[in-house]
Amino acid sequence: MSQSGNVTIVEVGPRDGLQNEKAVIRSQDKVALIGLLADAGLRRIEATAFVSPKWVPQMADHDQVMRGAPRRPGLVLSALVPNEKGAAAAIEAGVEELAVFASASETFARKNTNCTIAQSIERFGPVIALAAAHGLPVRGYVSCAIDCPYEGEIEPQAVRDVSERLIGIGCHEVAVSDTIGRASPGRIDRMLAEVTQGIAASRLACHFHDTSGQALANIDVALAFGVRVFDSAVGGLGGCPYAPGAAGNVATEAVVAHLAALGYDTGVDADKLEDARALALRLKAGTGLRD
Ligand code: HMG
Ligand code: MG
Repeated sequence: MSQSGNVTIVEVGPRDGLQNEKAVIRSQDKVALIGLLADAGLRRIEATAFVSPKWVPQMADHDQVMRGAPRRPGLVLSALVPNEKGAAAAIEAGVEELAVFASASETFARKNTNCTIAQSIERFGPVIALAAAHGLPVRGYVSCAIDCPYEGEIEPQAVRDVSERLIGIGCHEVAVSDTIGRASPGRIDRMLAEVTQGIAASRLACHFHDTSGQALANIDVALAFGVRVFDSAVGGLGGCPYAPGAAGNVATEAVVAHLAALGYDTGVDADKLEDARALALRLKAGTGLRD
C-alpha cells in the first residue's frame, strides 16, 4: 500500500532511449524490450517514432515495432509523431496514444523539425483532429524547457507559452522536457512556478535527461508542485540526435526505487524491471537477444 499515492511512469526507452543509437537494432529486439517493460508493470510505453527515416534512421522500423509490440490489458502504447503523415501511419499500425513535440527554443525547433515553433504547432492541428476521429489521446512535449543546446538558457515564460498552446489545441498532457539534462532543482522550481500558473500540475509530466546527475532531485521538486507523471528510460538509455551533449534519460529503475523510498506506488516490479534493463544494456552494447 503506498503512503504517498500513485505516480505514473511513461517509459520512453524504446523511443527516446534507442533513437540515438548508431548501430541498427533489430525490430524483434525492440519488440522484446517492450514486452519485458510491460511484464515489469509499465503501463505507458512510448514504443517508437513515426518520424522521417532520413532524420532518425533508428526509428525507420516504426511500423514493424508498433505492429509487433505486445498488447496487454491496461497497457497504452504511444508513438512520437511530427505531422499528419506520421500520425496516419501510427494509427494504421495500431497506436493507442500519439505524442507531438514542440520546443521552447526556435533554434532547436528548426534543427529538430526544420520549421519554426509556430509552424510545428500548426502541423499538430491535423494530428489532433485525426487522433480525435479515432478516439486517441495526444500528449505534447516541450523540448528545451530549461536550456537549449544552441541558445542556452530558456525563459520559463517561453515554456509556459508553448505549453499553453499545446493544451489549447487539445493535448491532454504536456511533458516539459529538460532535453540536455542540465537542469538543477532551482531551475526546475522557477520553470514549474511559471508553467503551473497556466496549467494544472495534474496535466503536466516531467521528462528529465540526466546529464548532470540531478534528475532525481529535479523529480522531488516536481512532486512538490503536484506533478505525478514522469518519463524515464530503462537502463538510462537515451539522447537526441539533434541535441548535442544530451545524455541519457533518467533511468526507470532509479526512478522506481526513488519513488518507492518516498512512499509512492508506481506499479512497477523492480525485479522484473531488471530483465528489461539487462536487455536494454545489451542493445546499447550492440548485442541483441539471440547473440
Ligand atoms: P522535412 O525534411 O522538412 O520534411 O522534415 P518534408 O515535409 O519536406 O518531407 C521530407 C521527406 O520526409 C519526404 O520524403 C516526406 O515524405 C518524409 P521524400 O519525399 O523525401 O522521400 N516525411 C516523413 N516520413 C516518415 N514519417 C513522417 C514524415 N514526414 C515527412 N512523419 C520532419 C520535417 C518533421 C518530418 C523531420 O524534421 C523529422 O522527422 N524530424 C524528427 C526529428 C526527431 O525525431 N527528433 C528526435 C525526437 S524529439 C526528442 O527527442 C525530444 C523529446 O525526447 C523531448 C526532450 O527530451 O526534449 C521528445
Ligand atoms: Mg528526450
